[in-house]
Amino acid sequence: MPDLSVNIAPSHETGFLLRNPVMISCGTFGQDGYGGHMAAGVEFQSLGAVVAKTTTVHPRLGNTTPRIVHAKAWTMNSIGLQNPGIEVVLREQAPKWVDWQVPVILSIAGERVEEYRDLATAIEGTPGIAAIEINVSCPNVEGGLDFAQSPDFTGEAVRAVVTSTRLPVITKLSPNVTDITLIAKAAAEAGTHALTLTNTLIGMALDHDEGRSVLGTVTGGVSGPALKPISLAMVYKTFQAVEIPIIGVGGIETTDDALDYIYAGARAIQIGTANFASPRTPQDVLAGLERHLSHNKLSSLADIAGITHETAPSPNKPIPAV
Ligand SMILES: Cc1cc2nc3c(=O)[nH]c(=O)nc-3n(C[C@H](O)[C@H](O)[C@H](O)COP(=O)(O)O)c2cc1C
Repeated sequence: MPDLSVNIAPSHETGFLLRNPVMISCGTFGQDGYGGHMAAGVEFQSLGAVVAKTTTVHPRLGNTTPRIVHAKAWTMNSIGLQNPGIEVVLREQAPKWVDWQVPVILSIAGERVEEYRDLATAIEGTPGIAAIEINVSCPNVEGGLDFAQSPDFTGEAVRAVVTSTRLPVITKLSPNVTDITLIAKAAAEAGTHALTLTNTLIGMALDHDEGRSVLGTVTGGVSGPALKPISLAMVYKTFQAVEIPIIGVGGIETTDDALDYIYAGARAIQIGTANFASPRTPQDVLAGLERHLSHNKLSSLADIAGITHETAPSPNKPIPAV
């Protein structure tokens, strides 16, 4: 059997070893985002990890409906970080995770640096939570991108969390930026142990009769296949800018999609939108990765990680005028 294990936090004092690189992404894990009411036959406990819904200091009701729309090449959502607040999650959800085979990463978001610190402090020592994913990147709440678009704010949020917890810390970045490497470097310098790339991309969909937004909000966050080339390029660029592991997410539906991210430099991957059409997608992708390594007589993912960087043509250069 090929070795699919990956350490996604080698700079953390204990590391964070996953038995395989396939995770369920934040906001798409079960019906409530915390793994509730999973469809029968979904073997999520065999995955590398799952990311539980972004949780805030206070409960949030989320945005007005409709909040999700599916099209052929994309899904757009404007959920708006609906969650019951950290106190309820630690009291009612975390105890369920203690006996699970799969590590649970809890996503957190604050409106101010102090809230990131308070959330990390509240989580510290809670059984059932294996790591923290900092969400600086939600496009669907007012001010949600203030942190994601500023290297300084991102660095401050990361510093507030890493100095308040002994857990591995992953920082999830937004594609709604001009140069993601500047934000990635700021997060790495502030001590995050890994990066997740990317969250959703701001988009808009209109109804064709009245020209109104089909969502209850004006804009939403685009996910699914249309996001993949964008997130993939961001993983590729960021791989060249930082040393810490990158977790690739955006439009993964098949094993080939997952392999693309690994080739571009991701050490692990997350699957979100594809869970809505088939909650078995992550386990199917995992089985496909196992088959790919066995078929090609590869002993581990390290044999293929980042290979695009060895074969890539030189960066885009203007064709000289003739
Ligand atoms: C309905 C929905 C809710 C989401 N909620 C969150 C969230 O609370 N926090 C977060 O960091 N990302 C959230 N995301 C973003 C996903 O985790 C993921 O980064 C994004 O959808 C791209 O991956 P995908 O194309 O596989 O869905 C959400 C996505 C969807 C579709």
